[in-house]
Amino acid sequence: MADLEQRILVTGGAGFIGSAVCRHLVRSGASRLINLDKLTYSGNLHSLHEIADHPNYRFVEGDIGDEEAVLDLLRGERIGRIMHLAAESHVDRSIDGPAIFLETNIVGTFRLLSATLRYFRELDSYSQQAFRFHHVSTDEVFGDLPLESGVFTEETPYSPSSPYSASKAGSDHLVKAWHHTYGLPVVLSNCSNNYGPYHFPEKLIPLVILNAVEGRPLPVYGRGANIRDWLYVEDHARALERVLMDGRVGDTYLIGGRSERTNLQVVEAICAVLDERRPKPDGGSYKDQIEFVADRPGHDRRYAVDPSKIERELGWRAEESFETGLAKTVDWYLAREDWWRPLREQRYSGERLGRSGAAISSG
Ligand code: NAD
Ligand code: TYD
Repeated sequence: MADLEQRILVTGGAGFIGSAVCRHLVRSGASRLINLDKLTYSGNLHSLHEIADHPNYRFVEGDIGDEEAVLDLLRGERIGRIMHLAAESHVDRSIDGPAIFLETNIVGTFRLLSATLRYFRELDSYSQQAFRFHHVSTDEVFGDLPLESGVFTEETPYSPSSPYSASKAGSDHLVKAWHHTYGLPVVLSNCSNNYGPYHFPEKLIPLVILNAVEGRPLPVYGRGANIRDWLYVEDHARALERVLMDGRVGDTYLIGGRSERTNLQVVEAICAVLDERRPKPDGGSYKDQIEFVADRPGHDRRYAVDPSKIERELGWRAEESFETGLAKTVDWYLAREDWWRPLREQRYSGERLGRSGAAISSG
């Protein structure tokens, strides 16, 4: 039983952050890593190429909402720690179609918790002490900060604005309830906006990089004044390992890179890196492709995270600045057309999402 805490189940490990976590945990010596992923539109096994054949790693295609299959997996693999990332993750898609967000993020998390609690209750007391359920969540559950002041801390009350953030708030509350009511040993983390390699090109940074190199408009919602607090995904993966392994049971940790930028600053920074790395043949700047478009409904003005607690208690620090992380990210997309080209051609070609106040059916 000595290695129980190194027998880890990651859910959503074929996604952007989950794949970074899987690559990181396999490299850092997890004795067994199981990746359970349904392979929705954003799940991609090509992101796991470098660890696919590692003897300690196993991919399982499956749904967190399939309680019996999850329970079989937990038993069969003698899992000691669960890191739960599987989710619907894109705010714009949640505006167009909230149903799948409630289904996956709330009901799916409930079914995963149910399987986990059944399994936990079968463990001996030594194994129960080592067991953890880590829920990976977002700072968006805290809602909207004014542009000029304020910062999210572990004490900030929940106030989600979008169907996505409301569904993540719901799953956070379920995880806390399973701790308080049933004694499941949980930890939670809420992170700011991530960016980096293998990011599905529906989110701002990869969308802008790819639109830029394809000569298409760079869509900036509203006037580009909204602020996000950016964190390089590999820094997040290291933080998640710290929380999973050493987080205090029942506690929440906020994770962020102390890198607030307006959206317009982000887009202009991408253009500046591209101007240097891949100058346009006509000598112009990629900035000329920027186009201000209709704003997102319910658009939160600003997110900003105070990561002091995880820095102080778990000794984690972001290693990348926004400038170094962004340059790495742009270089990665320029080098890895083999990864993104099939996604642009077959899964999502960059059209505007989340614009509608259109009638939303509950189906
Ligand atoms: P992503 O969309 O890239 O990946 C989600 C993964 O979950 C995909 O591989 C998908 O196939 C899988 N999945 C979806 N439904 C599933 C189901 N029912 N069963 C099993 N697998 C399923 O998302 P991401 O950006 O990597 O985000 C991962 C987690 O981190 C999410 O919980 C998200 O809320 C949270 N988060 C994301 C950010 C961010 O900036 N991207 C910031 C903070 C927190
Ligand atoms: P996004 O990457 O969708 O993350 P989130 O909504 O979870 O913060 O968007 C980041 C910011 O960029 C957000 O304020 C919306 C804005 N945005 C644009 O201006 N243009 C775009 O094409 C997209 C996708 C987002």
